[in-house]
Amino acid sequence: MPATVTGSAGRTGPGWWRSAVVYQVYPRSFADANGDGVGDLRGIREHLDHLEWLGVDVLWISPVYPSPMADNGYDVSDYHDVDPTYGTLAELDELIAELHRRGMKLVMDLVANHTSDEHPWFVESSSSPENAKRDWYWWRDEPNNWGSFFSGPAWTYCEGRAAYYMHLFTKKQPDLNWENPEVRQAVYEIMRWWLDRGVDGFRMDVVNLISKDPELPDAPVMPGQRYGNMRESVLDGPRVHEFLAEMHREVFDRYDRDLLLVGETGETTVEEGRKYTDPARRELDMVLHYEHVEIDHGTFKWDVRPFDVGRLRDRLAAWQEGLADVGWNSLYWDNHDQPRIVSRYGDDGRWRTESAKLLATVLHLQRGTPFVYQGDEIGMTNHPFASIDEVDDVEAVNYYHEAVAAGLEPEDVMASLRAMCRDNGRTPMQWDDSPGAGFTTGTPWLAVNPNHTEINVAAQYDDPDSVLSHYRRLIRLRHEDPIVADGDFTLLSDSHPQVFAFRRRHESGQLVVLANFSGAEADLGELAEECRGELVIGSGGGPVLSPWEARVYRR
Ligand code: NOJ
Repeated sequence: MPATVTGSAGRTGPGWWRSAVVYQVYPRSFADANGDGVGDLRGIREHLDHLEWLGVDVLWISPVYPSPMADNGYDVSDYHDVDPTYGTLAELDELIAELHRRGMKLVMDLVANHTSDEHPWFVESSSSPENAKRDWYWWRDEPNNWGSFFSGPAWTYCEGRAAYYMHLFTKKQPDLNWENPEVRQAVYEIMRWWLDRGVDGFRMDVVNLISKDPELPDAPVMPGQRYGNMRESVLDGPRVHEFLAEMHREVFDRYDRDLLLVGETGETTVEEGRKYTDPARRELDMVLHYEHVEIDHGTFKWDVRPFDVGRLRDRLAAWQEGLADVGWNSLYWDNHDQPRIVSRYGDDGRWRTESAKLLATVLHLQRGTPFVYQGDEIGMTNHPFASIDEVDDVEAVNYYHEAVAAGLEPEDVMASLRAMCRDNGRTPMQWDDSPGAGFTTGTPWLAVNPNHTEINVAAQYDDPDSVLSHYRRLIRLRHEDPIVADGDFTLLSDSHPQVFAFRRRHESGQLVVLANFSGAEADLGELAEECRGELVIGSGGGPVLSPWEARVYRR
């Protein structure tokens, strides 16, 4: 049995994660110990002092399973091993043991909506219409009109089966058919196998897509689009809650230790979020929803629109209020699918440090479990991608070619990519100012951001005013102050043009957060009366907030 791990400032038992902070590593880009230009498990292990110093409780690693890497590991060809790019299973065991020794937990990414087309299940399923796994994936003689999330159609023809298979992402990521009980049992077996090995839970990739409308009806085609928008038939589908409850019974109910089950539930609603995370329903502990990271999307993500604090405040408050009496929020700005938050909702020029700290304060002071994505803690920014040749991500590359073929100017498409493409969040972690940013001694698989000479971990460690020191303070605050972990949430203004202000209240006291999301001074107006008590975060005073100033008062 794995060693007992407390984490989360020593809390155990149901809801232990309320005072916990999760740190996400994208293994490809975190630390490369063998100099081949790609991050690896040994690199992660060599940087655990950093995580321990920050105070994080849980490490989530994006997939390290064997994979053809059509989507950087979100296309798994073997769920019971480690891809040689990242190391070995023995090294993963060592990582688990070392994390546990330090009181931290490990959460694996579990990609179970789809597999790689090179997974033996799909190889068998696609071999003939008579094989035993013929219904493990979605096969049809004729495709419907659905488009995939990554451009192009959601169906590809397979010679071996003389039929089409469904893939909501790339054609190398066929969707598993969760209607088939054998598929579900096979997924549960994988989960138990990893839990028995010592991992402490899962972040389940696109888990609100696992149940499709079995009729697979044609979908409406939006203006200017070639394929149908399948969301209505696949998001939060008819049996998703039943499947997750079954998974809980078959997997989690069999373990008597503190585990974490996080679902990535893109484009889900507050109403569905309540269902997924209501402890009484025993489905998921928390969900990663998207609403607050789509504030700057137009009709679709490449159609970028200006940031609006009112929209952000509205969506964050809706989730805080919606999950106040049941369920639980996860709190995040960045991950490997998002451009860097400082470049989106902050100011990555003159006010980079101030805005990065403000964003951190606003996130960590909400009710929920914060997720820090590698590089957030030093205020990493978007990358100045000059041409499509510098971009790796399959979603961005597919979109670029589709958009240019449809007649858009390449430079306009590049402008969208610079703002929105996922590679912004995937450039190597900036450890120091050396040519490889301390990430690698070789040639990095994706270029290092040129600003690593100034923005890096080494430069921020000993500076008490750095973004890094600020993250450390916020994490400690969550561990030490029950108001942060357990207090309720009240929005203090729904109309201030620059300020996001809220109160957290608990039997032990109150915290008030006042944050100026702009590069101009903000007159607090009626909110000025909240400027009372001990200043826990920030150094100013008075009824006017400086550009990008955030204050936290305790009363
Ligand atoms: C969500 C993952 O976070 C993303 O990186 C991936 O491309 C899709 N799911 C498909 O697995």
